[in-house]
Amino acid sequence: MKVLVIGGGGREHAIVWALSKSARVTEIVCAPGNAGIAQSARCVAVNTGDLAAMLRVVESERPALTVVGPELPLSLGLVDELLRLGLRVFGPTQAAARLETSKSFAKDFMQRHAIPTAAYAVCRSLDDVRRQLPHFAASVVVKADGLAAGKGVVLCNSHAEAEQAATEIFSGALLGTAEKELVLEEFLDGEELSFFALCDGKHAVALAAAQDHKRIGQGDTGPNTGGMGAYTADGLMSAELEQWLLQNVAQPVVDQMAREGSPFQGILFCGMMMARQSDGSIRPMVLEFNARFGDPETEAILVRLESDIVDLFDAAIDGTADRLAIRMRPGASVCVIAASGGYPGKVVNGKPINGLDSVRDLEAVVFHAGTAAKDGAIVTAGGRVLAVTAVSSEPTPAATTPLQNALAKAYAALEKISFEGMQFRRDIGWRALRDGL
Ligand code: AMP
Ligand code: GLY
Repeated sequence: MKVLVIGGGGREHAIVWALSKSARVTEIVCAPGNAGIAQSARCVAVNTGDLAAMLRVVESERPALTVVGPELPLSLGLVDELLRLGLRVFGPTQAAARLETSKSFAKDFMQRHAIPTAAYAVCRSLDDVRRQLPHFAASVVVKADGLAAGKGVVLCNSHAEAEQAATEIFSGALLGTAEKELVLEEFLDGEELSFFALCDGKHAVALAAAQDHKRIGQGDTGPNTGGMGAYTADGLMSAELEQWLLQNVAQPVVDQMAREGSPFQGILFCGMMMARQSDGSIRPMVLEFNARFGDPETEAILVRLESDIVDLFDAAIDGTADRLAIRMRPGASVCVIAASGGYPGKVVNGKPINGLDSVRDLEAVVFHAGTAAKDGAIVTAGGRVLAVTAVSSEPTPAATTPLQNALAKAYAALEKISFEGMQFRRDIGWRALRDGL
């Protein structure tokens, strides 16, 4: 069968890589793709912010299955259009994707259905913010309502800081466009965990848990990024926690979205805070939902997937996810991002990338996030450039756990790769290593 993947980052490279291992897939097209994806799929240029252009690609390619990677096409209603054409597509409709595209929708939805999340208030003006702030402690989080590529969340230590952040969100100073709505939220302390459920409109089944590293600097310091690395490891999520998350978060979301007329099909990414309570206990609470695979978590998850990925997509589309047995390779995996100099600020593209060929013999997969081909060479084309990924099922004499072994493989590959300004974190997975994983 012919499969079309929409998107062109590390996540889409990992999806294309998994599709290329499927016995059922004969042709892969990726729009727009990137220089790495072009090695295993035919790439077709398209702007993923242009709905009509994406529809033209679908109509000329006529794929048997379309997989939508990023949130922007979901927010534009690409899935709705393909369903109207009677085509098979993996991903939620525009209305279902509101779980990600509108923080106020997601918070109100969780409150309506008693899904555990931080206390909050939706504000439409600075006056609203001033009225609501006295109900919150000094540590408060201010979140722009819409899609903001990780830049719409401000953690504040005082009400004055929160008012300042709100002013910047409403004026457009923070995000470049003036927002009409924001969410004030209680600050939660604890460790984060990303839980991924495959949903078919009726059922939610567990795919994996991962932890990402959002900050640019070692030890989780400096500004937030799209994600500088991620890992998965057996033991990161206990079987009890997985059941709890299915029963108290993912399945209620699927049930209630269906009841409200927007059945959710695709990946439900539950960004959880394992919130420390004043009595010392831990209560998992939802920080956010995403309506798609995470990036770079997907790279780390898919290198462990042993099932045919097309079976996952089919089950989601056909409403048979409850009959699916998802097989994952035991052990651990890691993805380390190599980013351009200056990221997450301004970057200069077009820097030649060296050493990609010398990684071939190492046990790492180099997914391309932001790369382009130029005069026969591969050059940088974006903030996040490469997603260097490795998996391990066994410890070795030098690495006492599978995670340590996976990290050793990924960092060995990174040693071989270079481009001007390249930056990467050397401490991916530090929490899990601390915890003995
Ligand atoms: P979000 O886009 O909502 O996931 O927020 C981005 C990041 O901000 C999260 O991954 C957390 O690190 C942090 N964050 C968001 N909401 C809260 C909260 N209520 N308490 C503490 N940290 C938060
Ligand atoms: N890694 C976080 C995200 O994909 O939004």
